[in-house]
Amino acid sequence: THARITLDRDFTIADVPRRLFGQFVEHMGRCVYTGIYEPEHPAADARGFRTDVLELVRELGPTVVRYPGGNFVSGYRWEDGVGPVADRPVRMDGAWHTIETNAFGLHEFMDWSREADVEVMEAINLGTRGVEEARALVEYTNHPGGTYWSDLRRRNGAEDPFGIKLWCLGNELDGPWQIGHKTAHEYGRLAQETAKAMKLVDPSIELVAVGSSNRQMPTFGTWEHTVLTHAYDQVDYISMHAYYREQSGDAASFLAEGVEMDTFIDGVISTIDAVKAAGKHTTQVDISFDEWNVWDFDRFNDIEEGEVAAAGWREHPRLIEDTYNVTDAVVVGTFLHSLLRHGDRVKIANQAQLVNVIAPIRSEENGPAWRQTTFWPFARMARMAKGRIMRLAITSTQGATARFGDVDEVDAVATWDEESGRLALFIANRSLESEATVDLELHGLRPTGVRSAEVLTVPEGGDRFTANLQETPDAVGLRPLHGVALDDGALRLTLPALSWSAVELD
Ligand code: AHR
Repeated sequence: THARITLDRDFTIADVPRRLFGQFVEHMGRCVYTGIYEPEHPAADARGFRTDVLELVRELGPTVVRYPGGNFVSGYRWEDGVGPVADRPVRMDGAWHTIETNAFGLHEFMDWSREADVEVMEAINLGTRGVEEARALVEYTNHPGGTYWSDLRRRNGAEDPFGIKLWCLGNELDGPWQIGHKTAHEYGRLAQETAKAMKLVDPSIELVAVGSSNRQMPTFGTWEHTVLTHAYDQVDYISMHAYYREQSGDAASFLAEGVEMDTFIDGVISTIDAVKAAGKHTTQVDISFDEWNVWDFDRFNDIEEGEVAAAGWREHPRLIEDTYNVTDAVVVGTFLHSLLRHGDRVKIANQAQLVNVIAPIRSEENGPAWRQTTFWPFARMARMAKGRIMRLAITSTQGATARFGDVDEVDAVATWDEESGRLALFIANRSLESEATVDLELHGLRPTGVRSAEVLTVPEGGDRFTANLQETPDAVGLRPLHGVALDDGALRLTLPALSWSAVELD
């Protein structure tokens, strides 16, 4: 396998939207309880936050975290999660057939987000609730004081407003599984009016309208069109969600799912722009890809209809705790490439979810926390993708796939930070058999040296299914990528088969 890549200092896509490196914390399974929060754990701090998990979160480096759902939010009353913990009601969460104690709520999440050094992206309930509750919540979080809801926040211990800028107008309301599922017209009008009321409380907030739950939804395209026809002028983003998995052992197609993600994003951009043109709008709506990941519901199918319910009403049950392997990590790397490549229109993205639930970080109750294989591409790109996104010209050996035809075996993105002078290259070799030689030609940039070069691939003695388990938490990680040669504006790399690499030049 061989690829030739050309990069020119003047050919760029956009500034790196730092919110592309977002994560998601839902009240689902063990993401909150025994994930980020476990007061009885030996590593818990005075507020019950697991410091071992927090350390891994800081290392992962997300910039923004979406909260509190997901499907959960469509039946959630935010008021249940504020005030003295002893007074908070225990509720039945219909989305995940779970007992919600409300021991963890808004104030706890705000405190946690400060510890984790992340921006908060707050989702409101537009399943069972509406305009009134939404504007009350913005008043509670963002108004300084002197009104009913803002003074309640102060009485609950937060003198200063939380100042939440980024809000999701509900979650997946196009999906029949959603509590409060709506037609596009019903949702579009509700989103428009809720957005208006929220911005009357705080005009500085940014709002994300709900897009399709995935590209396979029968209403995909028409949903976005109708919703934006109603709400274009009131919202700033429309959401995308997508989960991918290896189907019937077809690894080649799975490794090429980034191509599918590109197509999905391009489709949503077209729809947004069609509404913009027809409505003669002058502002630009962008994309918040606020749920994406590998989710193998063939292997981890514990939320199949009936299954969760049959287990009865439990507190924080184990739900979709996917164990990720080498192949999954390479695919996750290529999803991050796809998002970054579209950084002129995709401005926010959240990997779902942060801990335990299809997550880069795992933790056990009263036990250890560790990094999954998928931790590594996210951690490196969140740290190193800075400055401008470069427009790459790639000519690569093609690989045949059953689902997408021929695709580039080598997939790459690069960023260049003028301030530090650093160039970062993120590059995957999708070939399962062949190593890849890559020649990168740099126009207008003269890097002086290789600062770092790391690769994630099949470890010695392992195979593409090797994963990081509790007993072997470091089986798959990053190791030095050898044989990187920088010579007079040209970089030559040799990538192992099935690998993802990060190279930084000074
Ligand atoms: O992330 C898991 C679930 O997937 C979310 O709750 C929902 O929004 C999506 O269907």
